[in-house]
Amino acid sequence: MKTIDKSQEKNGIPLRPGLEGVPVTHSSICDIDGVKGKLQYRGYPISELASNSSFLETTYLLIWGELPTSKELREFEEEVQQHRRVSFRVRDMLKCFPASGHPMDALQSSAAALGLFYSRRGIDDPKYIYDAAVRLIAKIPTMVAAFQLIRKGQDPIQPRDDLPYSSNFLYMLTEREPDPLAAKVFDRCLILHAEHSLNASTFSARVTASTLTDPYSVVASAVGTLAGPLHGGANEDVIAMLEEIGTPSKAGQYLDEAIKQKRKIMGFGHREYRVKDPRASILQDFGEKLFARFGKDEMYEVAKELEKEAIDRLGPKGIYPNVDFYSGLIYRKLGIPRDLFTPVFAISRVAGWLAHWREQLGANRIFRPSQIYTGMKTRTWKPLDQRKSKKED
Ligand code: ACO
Repeated sequence: MKTIDKSQEKNGIPLRPGLEGVPVTHSSICDIDGVKGKLQYRGYPISELASNSSFLETTYLLIWGELPTSKELREFEEEVQQHRRVSFRVRDMLKCFPASGHPMDALQSSAAALGLFYSRRGIDDPKYIYDAAVRLIAKIPTMVAAFQLIRKGQDPIQPRDDLPYSSNFLYMLTEREPDPLAAKVFDRCLILHAEHSLNASTFSARVTASTLTDPYSVVASAVGTLAGPLHGGANEDVIAMLEEIGTPSKAGQYLDEAIKQKRKIMGFGHREYRVKDPRASILQDFGEKLFARFGKDEMYEVAKELEKEAIDRLGPKGIYPNVDFYSGLIYRKLGIPRDLFTPVFAISRVAGWLAHWREQLGANRIFRPSQIYTGMKTRTWKPLDQRKSKKED
């Protein structure tokens, strides 16, 4: 007879740390085939969107399920453009944050603070959902750029109405109107990062959404989750790792030592993919276009060599470059500081979070998983003078 290991299941349901492979919702937003290396948003292959679409068009597709007509797109772009400015109170709040603080913390706080300025009620009204989505898509880049200038001791610059979404962000960040190729590549990067099914931050967004709270709290909790080095924060660590390796000839040795010491190679591996992340391949192509125009990033050859050397060592385990591997090199070439890589990821991923927020509201059931309790059995409270410190044992 099969013996039941009570530490590994509850009520017949096996323990799944990290919920690996456990379906927890239906979703029609994003489909991943991790074996074939395919990714689709609402049925459209990511390569087609990255070649032909714009970030705002893709955002519309993700949230509302269909590519917009030209009228719908124009209206959406106009609405986003009109809501780019943030209240002087939000800017003042950003000025109170320590300049040494991480921009992801500034973003998380300011995203949550938007809930103080706009109504938190109305999530069952499609107009409320549209307006909140527009506001978040419009204001997050402004808040990221504002914190960047503020921490350098400067005043934030206002969005420019004559510039499209991505150009305007780069302008607010670098104080220069970007080269059209740079703006185009950046916009395509946003498309590639916009959605990826139930990754940790999106799951976080859905859990928060399932309590029927407001969209600002949904996005703030997702931003906090994205910040971690195993998720969005990895793109910062990739650059640090490449700089530590220093030259292509040291890539193999670095890999051997890291694998021996059981250290993770940043920008490699993915819970979903057993092959190279399709987004990493597309990003690499964009990176090469950018490098051809503006000069190669000094770490690009190290990255390529690391990828080559990793094939034999990590490939058999299905570990290949993920989306974070090449994105940092591109962002660096675009003049984006390293600790803004993850906030830039958030600028893009907010599209996916909002799509999941809307979908969650459409068929909501509050998330409340179970656990296998491993703590003490019932104990009796003792007064202070009868307790013995465990540290003395
Ligand atoms: N380098 C070396 N070995 C790795 C790596 C890596 N990057 N990723 C996984 N492995 C190995 C593990 O050591 C483990 O080996 P073992 O079975 O011999 O113990 C095995 O592969 C499984 O690893 P897990 O960490 O259990 O895989 P999981 O699916 O939980 O992790 C994750 C996925 C978190 C992305 C992991 O690959 C990782 O930490 N990568 C580095 C960080 C990174 O790049 N994160 C960005 C992910 S993309 C994104 O979030 C946008």
